[in-house]
Amino acid sequence: MFVSNKTSNTEETYRHLISVVKDLLTSEKDETACLAMVSAYIFAYIDELNWAGFYMLKDDELVLAPFQGKPACLRIKKDRGVCGKAFSAAETVVVPNVHDFADHIACDGDTNSEIVLPLFRNGVCCGVMDIDSRKFDRFGDSEKNCLNTIAQAVSEFLS
Ligand code: SME
Repeated sequence: MFVSNKTSNTEETYRHLISVVKDLLTSEKDETACLAMVSAYIFAYIDELNWAGFYMLKDDELVLAPFQGKPACLRIKKDRGVCGKAFSAAETVVVPNVHDFADHIACDGDTNSEIVLPLFRNGVCCGVMDIDSRKFDRFGDSEKNCLNTIAQAVSEFLS
C-alpha cells in the first residue's frame, strides 16, 4: 500500500520524491513498470498537477508512454509542441503560460503551464518527461531542479 510522505515543507517533499524515485530505479529493471511508477510518484508528490508522463521516440515520432492524467495525444512529431521543442533542443523547456506558446499542443484543455524535460539513452535523446498544471507559472526553480534530478535518474536507468 502506498502511503504518501508529503509534508508541508515543499523542499523536504521534493527530496523525498527524488529518494523514492532513485530507490525504485535501482530495485526494478522493467522499463514500462518504472516509467509508470515514476509518473505516479510525480503526480502523487507534486501539488496542482493535471498530467505527468512520458513520450518516447519510436518510428521517428514521440509516442505516448506511461502517464497519469486525462487521455492524451498518442503521437507527437519530433519538432512539434512543447514536447518536440524540448526533444529537438535536448533541453528542458518551461512554459509559464501555454496560451503564449504558439505551437503548444492542447491535450488537456485545463493545462495552463507546462515543463518538458529531455531523456537520454547512452547520451542520445530518446524521449521526454512532460508535466502539466492547471496553475499558471507552476514550475519554478524548486520544481525545475527536482524534475531535472528525476529526469537524470531516469536517463541513467535507460542507459
Ligand atoms: N502539451 C504538449 C503535448 C502533450 S500533452 O500536454 C500531454 C505539447 O505541446 O507538446
